[in-house]
Amino acid sequence: MMATVMDTNDQWIRERTGVETRYFVDPGTSTLDLSVPAARQAIESAGLQPSDIDVVVYATMTPDHYFPGNGGLLQTKLGLRNIPCFDIRQQCCGFIYAMQLADAQIRSGLARTVLAVGAEVHSSFMPFSEGSWARLDGVLNAPLPQDEWDLTTKNRHLGVLFGDGAAAVVLQASDSSDRGIIDHVICSDGADFDRLCVPGVGSAHRPYVSAEMIARGEHLPVMDGRYIFKLATTRMAEVSQAILKRNGLTPADLSMVLMHQANRRINEYVQKLLGLPDNKVIHNIQKYGNTTAATIPLLWDEGVRTGRITPGGLVLCVAFGAGMNWGATLIRV
Ligand code: ACO
Repeated sequence: MMATVMDTNDQWIRERTGVETRYFVDPGTSTLDLSVPAARQAIESAGLQPSDIDVVVYATMTPDHYFPGNGGLLQTKLGLRNIPCFDIRQQCCGFIYAMQLADAQIRSGLARTVLAVGAEVHSSFMPFSEGSWARLDGVLNAPLPQDEWDLTTKNRHLGVLFGDGAAAVVLQASDSSDRGIIDHVICSDGADFDRLCVPGVGSAHRPYVSAEMIARGEHLPVMDGRYIFKLATTRMAEVSQAILKRNGLTPADLSMVLMHQANRRINEYVQKLLGLPDNKVIHNIQKYGNTTAATIPLLWDEGVRTGRITPGGLVLCVAFGAGMNWGATLIRV
């Protein structure tokens, strides 16, 4: 379908990114809307009630509004108590940061039960016009007007990568010392932020958004794909080795590795650097594309449902994203 709205082809997308399908919400469905059922299911499958949640940590780079963030909005939608709700802005590494904060809240005794959410509706910042959406939905077949085709083609390296998604987990204090989160490493480096960012729409501009800015396309993300590709492989391998080393472990001790899914080739490269066999890695980019903060909890859910993540196993979650932010979480299931 992508080839109906830009100069691309299915083979290029599959071979260069690993994406085969992706999901986009209907217009009017927001990131918050998508996250509400995910959060409800997470609470339910933990055998809890909304009133049991002490803290919400909500990771997204596509919040419903410039402000406020989605955390507090989720509080109302779920009918939670007036608990603290944090908003995490670490893009593809958002869920790793969310888990670190959730774990810290629990370890410090500030909370017993934390709801961590990763959710994204990327479709609202995709470079697609109404006509592009109609063609992607299969309701229009006529060729796209040239100016719209040129815009999507200019952004084709981004347009084919992303999909919408939401997932949530509940983290809870436990007396057991042999299960749960073992360690985190989280890192940031803002030096090269402009290699992957939305250049417009923000307080760096006055007004923060303008018709001229939109006409120049500065409300859309820019990405230096090759640069990010190299950095992602280096940082994800580096942080995985660092967290294993400081816990006296090696990749052979891991039972499963959940890597952020931005490009399958990035993950295959990291897998090779760590010397991991195929049965220790789960991919879902082929089904959903890059779902940014939702990726790690989606992988976790799939891993549990398919029996690939089982009690006693040692799971490493690792991600790299815009900012730049990267990190890893080590969990004994
Ligand atoms: N279809 C067809 N051709 C394409 C497409 C497409 N969708 N996209 C790019 N190309 C073309 C380019 O125009 C270029 O053509 P040229 O040689 O004629 O100039 C050629 O393919 C090669 O371009 P590259 O950018 O070198 O392609 P690459 O193989 O690197 O793939 C990609 C591009 C998929 C974007 C890759 O670089 C990538 O995945 N980068 C990392 C993405 C990432 O990790 N992002 C971070 C997470 S996102 C977040 O945090 C918000």
